[in-house]
Amino acid sequence: MSEAESTPLEEKLTAPVRAAIDESAYGSWRSIATEDAVSLSFGFPDPDLFPQSGLAESVDAVLAEEGDEALQYGAGEYREELRSYLVEQERERGIDFDTHDLLVTNGATHAIDTVCRAFLDPGDTIIVEAPTFMGILGVFRNFGVDIVSVPVDEDGMIVEQLAAKLRHRRERGAEPPTFAYTIPDFHNPTGTTLSRERRERLLELAEEYDFGVLEDGAYSDLWLDAEAPPPLATMTDSERVIRVGSFAKTLAPGVRMGWLTAPKRIQEATETVAAGGTNTFTESFVGHYCESGQLDDNLPAIREAYRAKRDHMLDELRRTCPLR
Ligand SMILES: Cc1ncc(COP(=O)(O)O)c(C=O)c1O
Repeated sequence: MSEAESTPLEEKLTAPVRAAIDESAYGSWRSIATEDAVSLSFGFPDPDLFPQSGLAESVDAVLAEEGDEALQYGAGEYREELRSYLVEQERERGIDFDTHDLLVTNGATHAIDTVCRAFLDPGDTIIVEAPTFMGILGVFRNFGVDIVSVPVDEDGMIVEQLAAKLRHRRERGAEPPTFAYTIPDFHNPTGTTLSRERRERLLELAEEYDFGVLEDGAYSDLWLDAEAPPPLATMTDSERVIRVGSFAKTLAPGVRMGWLTAPKRIQEATETVAAGGTNTFTESFVGHYCESGQLDDNLPAIREAYRAKRDHMLDELRRTCPLR
């Protein structure tokens, strides 16, 4: 068979997946060969910040206290501890748990994929920032949607450009987008934060043009100079916002733990489509670890470590690549 021909099973792949398999969403991020090079193309956390011994103690404690129950379908009490911890954290951010609920997921990407499964039909439109987290574009593409991008400046997504696009779409008689995906806090890859005014305007536009907002808070806790403005999800009563979070940058990406908060019926919908459930054993030991207070205790040191790295990188850039 020639290389151009596809196998019988390949023929049966969905069109978006067939188009995607030849393209690597991550490009050549592993290609940097120099040992001391720091690849900025992917958000690898500093492994020196992974709390190996704390996690090992939590694994031991969960197995000693819960035994087989921790490894069985459903798992034990420590799994619940994770949920309680997260609900408390999100409540402190301002999420209203009278109207909203939380779903633990296998990472933020899984949370976003779950939202896509619940909402997207081929041909739908979603809004993203340009640039955006490259890993998520492949997820969106799998659903055969049209991706419309809106540029970012130092205050985050330029929402007036979004307003203009929405106006043109309406004039053309196009359907509203299903949702706008935004990384409002310490955006990947630009590092910018969506200003409070723009958050308000984005929510106004969501109301006026009838779309949802998918807020990716993967970096919300990793503020370096000042905390970000309040989450979009807490700035409206309109129940249009789904907020996603992750332990990837504050604990370790390998635990594959994240979550989403959404209006109750929407949370139920996402739970329904999140087939296979989550890693309940991981939930248990991460729950034990979080409840012990170690994550909260470590956060200031994690911020300090990244602040020092950021400052060092900027100093080196000024020294080696001075602006003319
Ligand atoms: C904005 C953003 N969201 C989500 C993720 C991935 O999160 P997770 O590993 O929990 O899927 C990343 C990782 O780089 C990211 O930059």
